[in-house]
Amino acid sequence: MLSIAVFGSGAGSNFRAILTAIQQGNIPAARISLVISNNSGAGILGIARANALPAIHLSQKQFPDERSFADTVLATLRDHGVNFIALAGYMKRVPPAVVAAYRDRIINIHPALLPRFGGAGMFGMRVHEAVLASGEKTSGATVHYVDEEYDHGRMVLQLTVPVLPGDTPESLASRVLAAEHELYPAAIGRIARDETSPEHQRN
Ligand code: GRF
Repeated sequence: MLSIAVFGSGAGSNFRAILTAIQQGNIPAARISLVISNNSGAGILGIARANALPAIHLSQKQFPDERSFADTVLATLRDHGVNFIALAGYMKRVPPAVVAAYRDRIINIHPALLPRFGGAGMFGMRVHEAVLASGEKTSGATVHYVDEEYDHGRMVLQLTVPVLPGDTPESLASRVLAAEHELYPAAIGRIARDETSPEHQRN
C-alpha cells in the first residue's frame, strides 16, 4: 500500500485529481495520508481539510535553518506513516535530507515533456512560453522521480498534447493541466500496481 504525502503550494488541482481517482477506487493500493504546503492559504490545504485529511502548513521560513526544517518534515512524515511522496505544484526545493530518506519514493509532475523545458527556473508560464518560442508542435506533462536536481530523476510516465496555431501560454497551460489530471493518477496507479505485483514481492 502506498501511504502518500502530497506536497503542494497552490490550487491543488493535481491533488484533487489524485484524491478523486483514489476515492473512486481507481487506485486501490494507495491512500493519501497527509498533505503539506509551504503556503498556509493554499487551496490544496482546503481540499485536504474538506476531505478530513491531515493538512499541515510547514515552511522553511518557520525554522532557523534547513536542517531543523527537514527534521520536522521527516518527523511529520513518520508520524503519519508516509512511505511515498508526491509533489503536486510544490514550488520549493525538497531538502536533501528528505530526498535521501525517501530515495526513489518521491515523484513530481512537470508541465512539459522532460528532459526538454525543465530545470531550475522552468516553472509555470515560463515553461509554456519556452515551448511556444521553440516552435514545437507538441507539449505535455511528465511524472518523474525526484532526486537532488530539479526535474532530473527517472521518468515514470508522459502524456502529450498538441500545440495549436494561435496558442497562447495560457491556452497551452490549460491544455497541459488537463493532461496532468489524467497523467498523475495513472502514474501513481502504475507505481501502486507495480509495488503489489508478484515480481516486485520476489525481489
Ligand atoms: C501544475 O501546472 C504542475 O505542472 C506544476 O504546478 C502546477 C500545479 O497546479 N508542478 P495545482 O496546484 O496542482 O493546481
